[in-house]
Amino acid sequence: HPMVFPSSRVHFPKTSRRLPQALIIGVRKCGTRALLEMLYLHPRIQKAGGEVHFFDRDENYLRGLDWYRKKMPHSFRGQITIEKSPSYFVSPEVPERVRAMNASIKLLLIVREPVTRAISDYTQLRSHAATAILPLAESSAPGSGYGAKMSTSALYAKLQPAHGYDNALGSGAGAKETALSGRTGAGAAVRRGGATTTTTSVPPTTPSAAQLAAKSFEELAIFPNGTVNEAYRPLSISMYHVHLHRWLEVFPREQLLVVNGDRLIEDPLSQLKRIEAFLGIEHRVRSEHFYFNETKGFYCLRYDNGDRCLRETKGRKHPHVDPVVVSRLRKFFAEYNQRFYELVGEDLGWPE
Ligand code: A3P
Repeated sequence: HPMVFPSSRVHFPKTSRRLPQALIIGVRKCGTRALLEMLYLHPRIQKAGGEVHFFDRDENYLRGLDWYRKKMPHSFRGQITIEKSPSYFVSPEVPERVRAMNASIKLLLIVREPVTRAISDYTQLRSHAATAILPLAESSAPGSGYGAKMSTSALYAKLQPAHGYDNALGSGAGAKETALSGRTGAGAAVRRGGATTTTTSVPPTTPSAAQLAAKSFEELAIFPNGTVNEAYRPLSISMYHVHLHRWLEVFPREQLLVVNGDRLIEDPLSQLKRIEAFLGIEHRVRSEHFYFNETKGFYCLRYDNGDRCLRETKGRKHPHVDPVVVSRLRKFFAEYNQRFYELVGEDLGWPE
């Protein structure tokens, strides 16, 4: 009898699932997905499909390294397996857990100007809050509790947790991150060996009471008396030095590369060249791999078998933020940015 294997087990000989040798640890909303997909243009890179959240979620961590390894794609010897879970950066228990797995792992940290990042974070939280609430809010089913008659203040109360919530995760229910679709053609079986992401499609919604009731970024970031709400999560995540400090207590500086997320948007190749050098792989990603898509307003990627842009949740339109609030926040971050520059030994030149 010929042996029959389940198709999920079929893969190229001489490949196996390996624990990652490099991690994208964050920061959320700084281009972590773009970075991973761009690195994947390189023949020596294999990526885990979704965000695995092994080190930051106890229920996963307790499953052990074999569970983690099984979440990884098949790779050839000499390839580098990369996983990205942006909440690793802000979760205190993670650096030590990563070190326990592999003390010489390479860490990639992508950052953006902190106020831009905070507004991007706000935009994402607001869109998740809206999509989580609107289908209910707009249903008029009697007795649902969230019918058309639900008051604005009740909706508003429902929306609050999403904003105040300690949401480093970025991929809570209904918000699972989606990636580009995998490539096809030669090598597809290997390339597709890893976990695939699922798409949670949300029906398009028109602005409604829920969205109108949502607080503005200005209200959430600045108290009525004019002081900055430092506990507001989109702001506290942007205090990079606080989080990075923990990592540098566990890992030597040379094991971490700081990627400039604002430059990744404008000139991806410059950042990718630095990363190739850092990872010790040949320069293989070239300008022909990118083309600027005017409609999207971002670079998209050119694979052998076709062109792909990131999904529409990447490169969202941000709400207008009062310039007075922006400059207030830039001043607020100036001191923190300085501490971050000192930690990394590089001035990123963010406006004050
Ligand atoms: P915005 O949607 O606020 O513009 P992450 O993947 O970590 O959540 O980061 C999302 C951010 O990646 C987006 O934030 C966008 O600015 C940035 N980005 C960088 N390069 C991109 C690209 N080529 N296409 C789309 N978004 C990109």
